[in-house]
Amino acid sequence: MKNNQECSDLTLNQPVSVILSLNQRTNLYQKFKSRIVHNPYLDRTLVSFQGNKQVPFFWFKYREGFSERLVTYLLQTLKPQPGILLDPFSGVGSSLFTASTLGWQTTGIELLPVGIFATQARIIAQKINIESLNIVISELKKINFQNYYDKSFAFSHLAITRGAFSSINEEQLVGYISYCHNFVANQDIRTLLIYSVFCILEDISYTRKDGQYLRWDVRSGRSKGKNEFNKGEVLSFEDAIYRKLKQITSDFNISPIQLDLFGEQLKLQLTDQKSSLVKNLEPKIHEGSCLDILPTLPENSIDCVITSPPYVNRYDYTRTYALELAFLGCSEEKVKHLRQQMLSCTVENREKRNYLQDYYTNRGRYQDFLRIDSTFKEQAALQEVLTILDNYKKEGKLNNKNIARMVHNYFYEICFVIYELARIVKSGGIIAMVNDNVRYAGEEIPVDLILSDIAESFGLKTRYIWTLGRGKGNSSQQMGDHGRTELRKCVYIWEK
Ligand SMILES: C[S@@+](CC[C@H](N)C(=O)[O-])C[C@H]1O[C@@H](n2cnc3c(N)ncnc32)[C@H](O)[C@@H]1O
Repeated sequence: MKNNQECSDLTLNQPVSVILSLNQRTNLYQKFKSRIVHNPYLDRTLVSFQGNKQVPFFWFKYREGFSERLVTYLLQTLKPQPGILLDPFSGVGSSLFTASTLGWQTTGIELLPVGIFATQARIIAQKINIESLNIVISELKKINFQNYYDKSFAFSHLAITRGAFSSINEEQLVGYISYCHNFVANQDIRTLLIYSVFCILEDISYTRKDGQYLRWDVRSGRSKGKNEFNKGEVLSFEDAIYRKLKQITSDFNISPIQLDLFGEQLKLQLTDQKSSLVKNLEPKIHEGSCLDILPTLPENSIDCVITSPPYVNRYDYTRTYALELAFLGCSEEKVKHLRQQMLSCTVENREKRNYLQDYYTNRGRYQDFLRIDSTFKEQAALQEVLTILDNYKKEGKLNNKNIARMVHNYFYEICFVIYELARIVKSGGIIAMVNDNVRYAGEEIPVDLILSDIAESFGLKTRYIWTLGRGKGNSSQQMGDHGRTELRKCVYIWEK
């Protein structure tokens, strides 16, 4: 349902049962269509990590990350006066760091230790003594890492990461980490050096992050399936770490001319690193699930939310970032627990309804729980989609029977997030959310419209549903079965 024309085209050749089953989504489209606006400024690179490729301090490739330009654009367009910003799915902290250099006080919530470590490392990087760091790095360049191997710092693999590195790369990695722990006294420098390894794990491994899972290079001996995958060059540990350290030090030693290219906020951050301004505006970060943490935040306390939740697309961050989780010492049990705590976006996620009911009841907020629960049940377009998916499940039309449960749980949980955001944002406050629409078994789920309608049930007003230049295609299998149509990829702007 890209536009009105497409809506009516869609109904022309369909049997009556299908037309009826589209009714609620068509009505919802009619409700919001004047607010669905193509924003030519927003393109795919702006909304993704790609937009940060040349930006200093982006040392870790977090594919789900925002670009700084997007956050700057949103703030300058929607809330030019700095205040208090929250990102309840803060990832590696792109919105927090960008906003803080524009004068905002920022708070992030992130579940995975991957994003938490990246955020903490960047906070440390902003305060580091560059001369001392350069001295330690020049010492590091003289040593043979294998000579420092200490088995107490051995890489504690998860079942899904075993065999990820060649033995020489793993030995050097452990030797380097051992050296950092045993010989680098300054804790901040040590953390930054360890973070440098964290940033190169994929480069030195036989794996490639690929949306839903980790792909394995044929050289690992672990690759599965008919099509053998070769990721190309696997960097040696030494090459990769020297490159990363060079990138880090050159970002610190960036010239004033280069700074101009990156804009005012970065200039402030880099040239005035030790100023009290930057220190005061250091992002605050909560580690945990926003489903637990948002209900603890005071109401009417936030001026702006810029966020991007996981999409309902089956991407399992605990698998794609398994190397990084293992590097940070997460056990199998911990990883399983994190997977279940995530906003449901994989077919493995189990329902959190009972948990949420108990949690709200124990906080004396049972009435809020009931309100959120009934808003979910009363969202007609959502219930239409869920009924269809349940039928498809019974008819064996879904390529995984748990897709219906995942979609159900995703919307159920995100209702809680939106309710809490509506509660804690101040009157006049803005919420900007980036998300993609999806399609399962040919059935389009207009995530943008459903979430905007839920937001309105909780007292927010939808200012715009900004669509990006090009929508997102389908998986090749869906394209084959149902023909290619574009799905909206959007930034929704809600106001209290
Ligand atoms: C699309 S990414 C956001 C990336 C972020 N905008 C950035 O620039 O790095 C979604 C993030 O939500 C996190 N997440 C998933 N479930 C969560 C939960 N229940 N509470 C908090 N964070 C969660 C994921 O780990 C992931 O980092």
